Formats: sequence, C-alpha cells, structure tokens
Amino acid sequence: MRYLTFALGKGRLAKQTLELLEQLGITCEEMKDKNSRKLIFVNEELKLRFFLAKGPDVPTYVEYGAADIGVVGKDTILEEGRKVHEVLDLGFGKCKMCVCGPAEAKKYLEHRELIRVATKYPAIAKDYFYNTRHQTVEIIKLNGSIELAPIVGLSEVIVDIVETGSTLKENGLEVLEEVCPLSARVIVNPVSMRLESERIKELLINLRTLLKGEA
Ligand code: PRP
Repeated sequence: MRYLTFALGKGRLAKQTLELLEQLGITCEEMKDKNSRKLIFVNEELKLRFFLAKGPDVPTYVEYGAADIGVVGKDTILEEGRKVHEVLDLGFGKCKMCVCGPAEAKKYLEHRELIRVATKYPAIAKDYFYNTRHQTVEIIKLNGSIELAPIVGLSEVIVDIVETGSTLKENGLEVLEEVCPLSARVIVNPVSMRLESERIKELLINLRTLLKGEA
C-alpha cells in the first residue's frame, strides 16, 4: 500500500484538522512535539504521511500530487485557483471575505467609482469587482494588516477576511459588502481521487459522519 499524503495549512487549521482526524482514530503522535523541527510525519500503521505547509502553498502541493489531500481555507483555494477537487467543508475556521472601509466609502461603491482596493487577495478582489460588481478598480496587493490601508490613505476600501469584526471596529472601519463565506475545506488531487478512490472515499465518508454528529 502506498502512503497517502496530507498537506495541512500551518496553524489553527492544522491543529483543528488533527483533532478531527484523531476522533477517527487517525493519529500522528510525532506531530504533537512542539520542539521538533521535522517537516514530515508518518503513521506507519495506516500508511499515512502528514506535512505542514504555508496555507497558500497547500493547493500547489495538491495540484502537483506531492500531497494527495490538503486542508486549507476557502479563501486560499479561491485565490490560488489551482486544479484541485474541493470535496468537503469541514465547518471550522468560519469567517467571511468582505469589502470593508470607512462608512463614507459606501458612495464609491454605489457610484462604481474608480477606487483603490488594498488586499492580500488580489484574485478574489479582481473577480468580485470586475465580474460581480462590474466596477473598474485599481487593486493593490498587501501582505498583512490590510486595515491600515484606508486609514493612512493608501486605498478607499479593502477586501479582507472578517471573523469577529473586532479589527474593523477598533480601527473605525465596517463591512460594506460581503463577498463570500469562508471555512476550512478538504481538497484532493484529481489523479489521487481516481487511483486511491477507495481509501479517500472512506476517509471522506467517515469525516462527513463525524461532522454530522457534531453539528
Ligand atoms: C485577519 C484578517 C483581519 C482579521 C480579522 O488577519 O486579515 O485583519 O484577521 O479578524 P477579526 O474580524 O476577528 O478581527 P490576521 O490576524 O490573519 O493577520 P494579517 O493582518 O497579517 O492578515
């Protein structure tokens, strides 16, 4: 039996995924050692391998078949646009992709003005403004602390993830429009889906059953 390889987005997502897998009896003790610098972990008994990667790299590993299965946020799947099958919504990591800004910026959206949009997600922002809103905008890619952009005058609005809304509130900004809901998703390499269909389907069925029980 060949190894089935999982790529997990580093951080909270990986932690929650491992907790879920543990409930199915899929464990990887090695991975829990916080001091370890090891990058890849093996469960010999079940012939499974796990590695942690930066979120945006997870769809890349899965598209190329370096990982059979990946767990990553819907935001990353949309932004990266890789050829992978999205097969399951894990229901955690829930948040929303939104257009945000100061209340005064509403008028720029209403009048479809040529504004600047700062974001960590240029592909999502471009798709939303051009294809959904039919508004021509200038998109500025940033790498974090996106809320700063309208405060310091870099852009009129931002496209960013909103979870609790407290970052917006504390910075005098608000949600102007919702782009789409987000959560953690399971993605699968299309070839692995065929070659390892039995093992992957069984895992997905078990995950679905577990999630239904939790709902
Ligand atoms: C994310 C996002 C928002 C914030 C939203 O940033 O970009 O800034 O969380 O969460 P809230 O609605 O609960 O306040 P993250 O902490 O990932 O850091 P970043 O600014 O580097 O993207």
